[in-house]
Amino acid sequence: MKISLISTFLAAASVAVASDVVSLTKTDFESFVSEHSLTLAEFFAPWCGHCKALAPEYEQAATTLKEKHQDIALAKIDCTTESELCNEQGIEGFPTLKVFRGGLDAVSPYSGQRKADAIVSYMVKQSLPAVSSIDKDTVENFKTADDVVIVGYFSDNDSNQTFTKVANTLRDNFLFGATSDEKLAAGEGVTVPAVVMYKNYDDNKLVFSGEFSVDELINFAKVESMPLLGEVGPSTYTSYIESGIPLAYLFIDKTEDKEKFTEVLLPLARKYRGEINIATIDANMYGQHAENINLKQEWPAFAIQEIATNYKYAYDQAKEITKDGLTEFLGLFHSGDLSPTIKSQPAPETQDGPVWVVTANTYDEIVLDEDKDVLIEFYATWCGHCKNLAPKYEELGRIFWDNEELKNKVVIAKVDTPNNDVPDDVRGFPTIKLYPAGDKANPIEYQGDRTVKSLADFVRDNGKYGIDGWAIAEKNAAEASVESEESAADHDEL
Ligand SMILES: *[C@@H]1O[C@H](CO)[C@@H](O)[C@H](O)[C@H]1NC(C)=O
Ligand SMILES: *[C@@H]1O[C@H](CO)[C@@H](O)[C@H](O)[C@H]1NC(C)=O
Repeated sequence: MKISLISTFLAAASVAVASDVVSLTKTDFESFVSEHSLTLAEFFAPWCGHCKALAPEYEQAATTLKEKHQDIALAKIDCTTESELCNEQGIEGFPTLKVFRGGLDAVSPYSGQRKADAIVSYMVKQSLPAVSSIDKDTVENFKTADDVVIVGYFSDNDSNQTFTKVANTLRDNFLFGATSDEKLAAGEGVTVPAVVMYKNYDDNKLVFSGEFSVDELINFAKVESMPLLGEVGPSTYTSYIESGIPLAYLFIDKTEDKEKFTEVLLPLARKYRGEINIATIDANMYGQHAENINLKQEWPAFAIQEIATNYKYAYDQAKEITKDGLTEFLGLFHSGDLSPTIKSQPAPETQDGPVWVVTANTYDEIVLDEDKDVLIEFYATWCGHCKNLAPKYEELGRIFWDNEELKNKVVIAKVDTPNNDVPDDVRGFPTIKLYPAGDKANPIEYQGDRTVKSLADFVRDNGKYGIDGWAIAEKNAAEASVESEESAADHDEL
């Protein structure tokens, strides 16, 4: 009895220790993913609940794969001890799962479910060739095997290499096939090397006509796979953004409007295909998004979002949306004759200081004033760090505001960024930048700690005038205390 208990205990202990998931560190990570043709890596933190839930599934998947597919490895990296590696990998949340294909560069996010079976099947699929070989017997079925199918017709090795690279990059998005049978190409009306996209919607066959390069082919796949008139939603928004071309969308809250406008928008979508994506969006579900593109929540509403510049162009909401109106609006946008819609709060009538209040409409006048060193804080009203900074920022502002001469040289300013469109690419709040006098094209972002002295030193070191605000503040404080001592002394004499 005793013996069997002990042996059970020992067996349990050994199960707990033996794992088919490999723990990696900065030292062996790169060599490991380079040596394995396929690695799924989990970046985790021991305290994270989702990581704990994943752990047994991950273990089981690793064991199953080890038995049948020795070329597929499952690894894990503890980000609490491997912070340098996790930083390099850009890990922002836990768990993060990435698929590596024989090297650090060949990486893609894992987009399957977090269950043992799903992990196994996802990884086995990843291990199959990205390009399926097709012939005259299989080609017809293959063309309709998925929503979007991309077929390469070629026989030379260069085209093969290029096409295979494209397929490896986009293997999670599309099904890729290839054939070297020139008769099949002729049957499709193309000559080798050629690439044809087959879709089960819209114009369902599209022939690639660009230069046969990896970049052009990836672009073709991303742009042309977008539906002619799609719908913006959580599952499609990213592909619209990734396609990189302007997105024009109509907010609709009624079914009959959707039917009516589909007829109007389809020909426009066809006309601007590959140059402007045109879509609808359900205003009942995603109405709030309208504010992000400078529209009021009144339906229907139409706007164009230029992805490259993040400029927004709103169709005048006081006007009815008509076929002619939309045609004209898109035409003006396309020819570059439309001005972006700038969101701006009203500018204050007077600047009361000590911090200058900037709005979208006064941005150029204040921030880009060539005669002044301008420090500008991009903040949001809801941002806690901004609130903490506010009194110090005012103290900094006062140094320059209170002195007529300094006031004409250094401006300490702020802008409520969510409510004012600014040309700056602001990724977090607060963001602080100095626009030096005479060099407005080269603003410098502040990275130091949030103290008055550090901010003042930053202005001194990077501004054109090199004014030492902190030294001035200290001198002022010293004089003030001497004055108060003197006046205290006066009192004593009395
Ligand atoms: C194709 O080209 C690659 C490199 O460009 C080479 O490694 C490979 O051996 C070539 N294959 C054939 C079949 O010629
Ligand atoms: C592309 O190259 C691979 C590997 O060399 C080969 O198996 C495949 O048949 C080629 N495909 C075409 C369409 O030539």
